[in-house]
This record gives sequence, C-alpha cells and structure tokens, in this order.
Amino acid sequence: MGLISMGSGAPPVGLDIGTDHVRAAVLKSSSAAPTLAAYARGDMPMGAVVDGEIVDPAAVASAIRELWRQPGINGRDVVTGVSNQKVVVRLIDLPFMEREELQGAIQYQAQDYIPIPIEDAIIDFQIIGDYMTPGDEHMMEVLLVAAQRDTVEATVAAVEGAGLRLASIDVTSFAIVRSTLGSGLNVFSEDEESPGEAVAVVHIGSGLTNIAVVERGVPRFTRVSSLSGNQFTQAVGNVLNLTFDDAERLKIRAGLPEIGSQAHAETATEDSDARMVREAQDALEREVNKFIAEVRRSLDYYLTQTAQARTIRRIHLTGSSAQLAHLGTYLEKGLQAEVVMSDPLRFIQVASSARVPVEEDRMGAAPAIGLALGGVI
Ligand SMILES: Nc1ncnc2c1ncn2[C@@H]1O[C@H](COP(=O)(O)OP(=O)(O)OP(=O)(O)O)[C@@H](O)[C@H]1O
Ligand SMILES: [Mg+2]
Repeated sequence: MGLISMGSGAPPVGLDIGTDHVRAAVLKSSSAAPTLAAYARGDMPMGAVVDGEIVDPAAVASAIRELWRQPGINGRDVVTGVSNQKVVVRLIDLPFMEREELQGAIQYQAQDYIPIPIEDAIIDFQIIGDYMTPGDEHMMEVLLVAAQRDTVEATVAAVEGAGLRLASIDVTSFAIVRSTLGSGLNVFSEDEESPGEAVAVVHIGSGLTNIAVVERGVPRFTRVSSLSGNQFTQAVGNVLNLTFDDAERLKIRAGLPEIGSQAHAETATEDSDARMVREAQDALEREVNKFIAEVRRSLDYYLTQTAQARTIRRIHLTGSSAQLAHLGTYLEKGLQAEVVMSDPLRFIQVASSARVPVEEDRMGAAPAIGLALGGVI
C-alpha cells in the first residue's frame, strides 16, 4: 500500500525520517528471505521534525544527504513513511464494487470518515475482503488511509532536496507491523491468532509512539501518541532540574525500578548519586504509568469497536525507547498481556556488510526495514 506510488525498477531504499534520527535500509530480494544489504543511521538536527511533521525540509534534506555518504546507501529511489496524529487509518464497510469503480468513488466515500477536507488530503485504500450480510447484501471491507497534503509535500521537498526520488509513501505503522510480524499485509504465520484474539505492536521512538492492532492478518487500527522517549527524558529533567542531555543520560542509566524492589525507599545512607537515580526512577515510573494508560485506552477503544476480537493476547514492543530497563515488565503487568521484544531481523537475512550498523540499532530499525520490505514483496 502506498499513498503515492510511481513504480520503479530496483526496490526503493527504506527511509525513516524521525525526530532524533534518520535511517536507511537497503534490501535486496532473494530466493530465500529478503537480504539487508546496507543499513545506516544518522542524526536529525533538533527541531527539524516535530510531532512526526517535517517542519524544516532543508535541514532534513541535509541530514538525508549525510546519510547517503554512509557505506552501501546509494539507491536514488526511496520509500518513506508518514506517521503523525493527523494520519487517518480507518477500516470501513462499503457496498461491494470493483476496484476500478472504488478508485473513482473513494474521494466521495472518504469524506464521511476523515476529519480533514478532501481537497487537503491524499487518499489511498486497500480492499481487504468481501462478505454477504445476513440480509444478502454484498459488502466489502476497505482499509482507508488519508494523510494531509502538506505532510506529504514536506516529505517530497525533503527527499528531492537531498537529490533523491520519492517512489512511494507508506504508513509508518504498517511498515513496523510488516517487519515485526511478517512480510505481507496478510502473512503473520506464527502469530496467527485464534478467532477472538488480536495482537498489538507498540513502537516507542523519541517524539512519537506508534500503536497498531492486527487481527486476522490485517492491521485494523493505528494510533500515534506523543508520549514517548522525549517525554520520559523531560520528566527526569524536570524533577532534577537537569539539561536535556544530562536528563537523557540519567534516564538511560537509571531505567525503571524493578517491580517489587526496594529501589524507591529512601535510606539514611543514600549518597547523592543514589538519590538522583531514585528520583529519576520515580519520575519515569509516573510517566510510564501515564504511557500505559494511554496504550490501554487505545486498545480498549479498538476492542469496543470491533465485533470479533475480545482480547489483545500479545504485545510486540519495539523502538529505541523500548530499551528503557524493565519497561516490558511494567507493560505486561499494566496491560495484562504477554509482552515480547520484537526483532526486526526476524524475517530477513543480513549481509555481513550490514551486520554491525543494524545490530547497533536493532530496536530502532523496524520502520526503515519495514518500509524497504514493502518495496521487495
Ligand atoms: N537504552 C535506552 N533506554 C531508554 N531509552 C533509550 C535507550 N536508548 C535510546 N533511548 C531513547 O530512544 C529515543 C530515540 O529513539 P529513536 O531514535 O528511535 O527516535 P526517532 O526515530 O528519531 O523519533 P520518532 O520516531 O519518535 O520521530 C530517545 O528518547 C532515547 O532516549
Ligand atoms: Mg522513529
């Protein structure tokens, strides 16, 4: 699925443009699993990407150009993702029609489902399947995606500013699901849920968290939240009055206190470093509890909207911020679901040239790899 798709020869490079980092994944198709031939991550200047929107296309373009100097990153065609609170993903039911007919009608059909004027949106859809109602009406299920035209135009500007060509735009959540659960929209072999169950994928970055729910092989719900790594850092900085960089280092060092540990009890012998760590952990625990409530609201919303799934059995956790110590255990307890650390290398092979850079960024690599996967399958 691509909001814009122009078709091309070589599979496009997966380009993930984030708040803190920009990443590129080069995949080659092969007879066995697709092979990651090159992978790189570079820094994004602060303020260039805010809430998933490119606000400074020139700064993003130069970060991308920098990335293209890294070994093996050399394709001209790229596929990027859109991910922000204004991207709409809705599963809708429509009277059955052929694909071509829907292509013409979608503009009119979509307006009922998206909160932005149709002329300001770029719309795409995928037909998931068709069915008969008890009253013998022929219906179909359609996954509708809409992004703000401005968002897409800023992405085009950044990519073209870097001397590259935008081959297609995907929804970042779909890319994350693809690299986490399997390579196609409809292929989730090992996670094949039994009826009544769904799985969630939660990717926690720096400025955004992407939540997706997959049921019967299809991502049926996505939500983007701004509760993520930067907020955790900010909370630590605020309680201890630290600079952002100091708070960032302390956050990573402290992590969350082990559940049930005595880590937060203040003791008479506590030195100043132990006190800082304890206060950071307390702040993180409060922030993570808010985060859990946010994820729970999203999952509950999904479960009340769908007639089929009654539970979310398993949560796949990814993203650099998922490395916060003990986060998985907190989520497991707070959401009453099994939490597994997801591995974006699970469904691909890795060439020796890509091994080191991707291993160093294993939790952050899911979007870039998933975007590239969309181009080779
Ligand atoms: N070991 C760790 N423990 C906790 N947090 C970590 C750890 N390593 C990195 N992080 C956090 O991960 C975040 C950066 O994530 P990432 O690089 O994936 O974001 P991004 O892709 O640039 O942003 P986004 O996708 O949200 O726009 C930072 O908040 C950083 O503090
Ligand atoms: Mg990211």
